[in-house]
Amino acid sequence: MSRIHGLATRALRSLDPEVAHGWALRGLAWGLGPHGRGDDPILAGSLAGIRLSNAVGLAPGFDKDAEVFGPMLRAGFGFVECGTVTPRPQAGNPRPRLFRLSEDRAVINRMGFNNQGLEAFAGRLARRGAGVVGANIGANKDSEDRIGDYVAGLRRLWGLASYFTINVSSPNTPGLRALQTKAALEELLGRLAEARDSLSAEDRVPIFLKIAPDLEAMEVEAIVEVAVAHGLSGIVVANTTVSRPPLRSRHAGESGGLSGAPLFELSTRVLKAFAAASAGRLALIGVGGIGSGAEAYAKIRAGASAVQLYSALVFEGPGLVARIKRELAERLRADGFGSVAEAVGVG
Ligand code: FNR
Repeated sequence: MSRIHGLATRALRSLDPEVAHGWALRGLAWGLGPHGRGDDPILAGSLAGIRLSNAVGLAPGFDKDAEVFGPMLRAGFGFVECGTVTPRPQAGNPRPRLFRLSEDRAVINRMGFNNQGLEAFAGRLARRGAGVVGANIGANKDSEDRIGDYVAGLRRLWGLASYFTINVSSPNTPGLRALQTKAALEELLGRLAEARDSLSAEDRVPIFLKIAPDLEAMEVEAIVEVAVAHGLSGIVVANTTVSRPPLRSRHAGESGGLSGAPLFELSTRVLKAFAAASAGRLALIGVGGIGSGAEAYAKIRAGASAVQLYSALVFEGPGLVARIKRELAERLRADGFGSVAEAVGVG
């Protein structure tokens, strides 16, 4: 990481986390972010048919309103997922709602889908240049037809995003995670498949489902079967956890979703369960607690075709992505792989 980005990251860490996030977005939008070099060809990946120049992506929640996907692609991410976006703008939960757990290299958030809504998001996405940008879609908190909200997101952003992620796993919208149960998921994915099939075929892109790490083995199998039956391309494993592994920081008792280092083990275990249950029928994106090349590599070996991260950026700044890619390339070479794709799911 360049000295200046290291200093900026340290300065931001001394501010309230949400204020710091706002400044980080502004700095990136002003062009002050890092500029990565071209990617080592060994890092190239393929995600449900999407070619990635590197398989390390930015997880959603960082760029909820699709304001800085360009600067984050320039910083070296192989793909950026924006959102979660809901049809109507929404303020989210009262502050404070974002907490740094520095001693644990973790974050707790209960943002509650604060975002500017679909129109603002679509306008920015429509002006995008090259690069893989996914749209993560959700439902408004006060919606009377939550499934209708997902359908509205898919329709409005059709032809604009490189892929879609259906987010049914935020712990901060009451009742949202209930959409992961088999009957609810049947209805949700059924209606989304119907909408997809009615839209222009030439704009068709992969659709992923993002799940919580707090699932039982039975639920994993049910989710895989419903996803395959409705022609989904893959699963994003996973969102933040409502569980609380042992933590040391003073904010450990805050309610919301936990992410960062303490999520690595749980989310990787769930990833392996999805890899076993899907047996190659679905692409998997591994996310949760990645802060090094070794952790990205472990997710790939566990079955992820691509990985994403967010929380580690809070502590390391955007220069982190260059380090993770360098370490990942070293590991792949040391084990004799010619590309990320060759290492997917080797165990
Ligand atoms: C998130 N995450 C998230 N996920 C999602 O699908 N939609 C969202 O709007 C958000 N918002 C959000 C806000 C904040 C502040 C954090 C820290 C996280 C979850 C995120 O994409 C990812 O799944 C988890 O954070 C786990 O990855 P990391 O952070 O451990 O690398």
